[in-house]
Amino acid sequence: MAPSLEEIDLRSLLHPWTSISEHAKVGPLVMHEGHGARLRDTQGREYIDGLAGLWCVDIGYGRSEVADALAQQSRQLPYYHSFSSMTNQPSIELADRLQQLAPWPIARVFFGLSGSDANDTQFKLAWLYHKLRGAPAKRKIISQERGYHGVTIAAASATGLPSAHAAFGLPLDGFLHVRPPYPYREMKAGQSEEAFVAELADELDAAIVREGPETVAAFIAEPVMGAGGVIVPPEGYFPAIKAVLEQHDVLMIADEVICGFGRLGRPFGSQAVGIEPDLVTLAKGLTSGYAPLSACLLTQRVWEVLEREAETLGVFGHGFTYSGHPLCAAAGLANLDLMKNEALFERAAKLGVHLQARLNELFADHPHVGDVRGMGLIGAIEMVRDRDTKEAFAADEKLGPRVFRRLLERGVIIRAIGDCLAFCPPYVIEVEDLDTVLERTREVLDELTP
Ligand SMILES: Cc1ncc(COP(=O)(O)O)c(C=O)c1O
Repeated sequence: MAPSLEEIDLRSLLHPWTSISEHAKVGPLVMHEGHGARLRDTQGREYIDGLAGLWCVDIGYGRSEVADALAQQSRQLPYYHSFSSMTNQPSIELADRLQQLAPWPIARVFFGLSGSDANDTQFKLAWLYHKLRGAPAKRKIISQERGYHGVTIAAASATGLPSAHAAFGLPLDGFLHVRPPYPYREMKAGQSEEAFVAELADELDAAIVREGPETVAAFIAEPVMGAGGVIVPPEGYFPAIKAVLEQHDVLMIADEVICGFGRLGRPFGSQAVGIEPDLVTLAKGLTSGYAPLSACLLTQRVWEVLEREAETLGVFGHGFTYSGHPLCAAAGLANLDLMKNEALFERAAKLGVHLQARLNELFADHPHVGDVRGMGLIGAIEMVRDRDTKEAFAADEKLGPRVFRRLLERGVIIRAIGDCLAFCPPYVIEVEDLDTVLERTREVLDELTP
């Protein structure tokens, strides 16, 4: 008998962000098709996708408008590069569209393929910016513990998760992490949000001064942390951080890979949390995952230095074979058309209000939920053994992964980040399906934490 897909997978694929030993025991789940927020695997089992793939399928699955755009473009011109002044129509149009969509004056757009490579590009742009201004020693990158910025060597170094570092001898020198704006775990009992924000801003200031401001290039942060546990910064956090950065001539990179394109109820996540960025990273929602694409947005502040020093610089020695790939850009354009024509940012904002309200109704009083948090159409609950002391469950209980598995058996997909359960559905999810995701999660939580 021919081997099954599962058997072939087990002997052929190295899965990203997967335990090798666990995978050998559990085996793969082979997804077959999708429509809206619903998925079906190769065994015919149905799922409601409460995580939009990996925080990216904002427009939902099975959108023929994007499929048609991809087919049309692949017939007309499947590939052409952007090196040496070459280019193609979809990438020009998409850069223009992003300039129009952004609430900041965006001078240039650089295309890559993933959030990780885009953040590596941002660090190189920050280094270049300072070098061209006569400060080549400004190279250090500061990020937050628990922040997620990708897995290429520089992006992984900026990521603030031990699981991205330990096995690989990372972070590289010159990457530092500061305490995250994580009220539930980092704010002292009785401390006001204002005082907490001031403390974090002071800590950032102290870190820059300790390192030497003449050595610090940029600070990178997500508007709301996604993969680190859906952590929402307190009011005033980013303005306070920006004031410190300005004082030390340090650039602000907004990593909008999850929060961009309406996820937080505004077109860009930065608008929802008061970030004034110098560089903006986009990916995921840019094509809703239909094709791999990322974008680095350069504000005028950064671009004017590159432009002014262009003669000195000569060639901008950076770029990928697939930078400005016409298929990916065509998918991006069709995706943005759908978002506009179907008013999906507005839909996400509306559904977001529902998500936050239902999360609170269903979980705020649960004896094993310490924190309910979120913004717009992204949310999380943090499960704890003891609500009063915030004591976590023992890691070897693997509560989060067990909740995830049991939900999967019941046809619901969410993400377990340790003992935080994250929800980030497509914008097109039906309210009933969203309710089902949350209600089943509550049922499973009750069963596993009696
Ligand atoms: C905020 C953020 N930045 C960067 C990345 C890395 O993107 P990619 O996996 O496309 O390299 C991710 C991926 O989840 C992310 O959530």
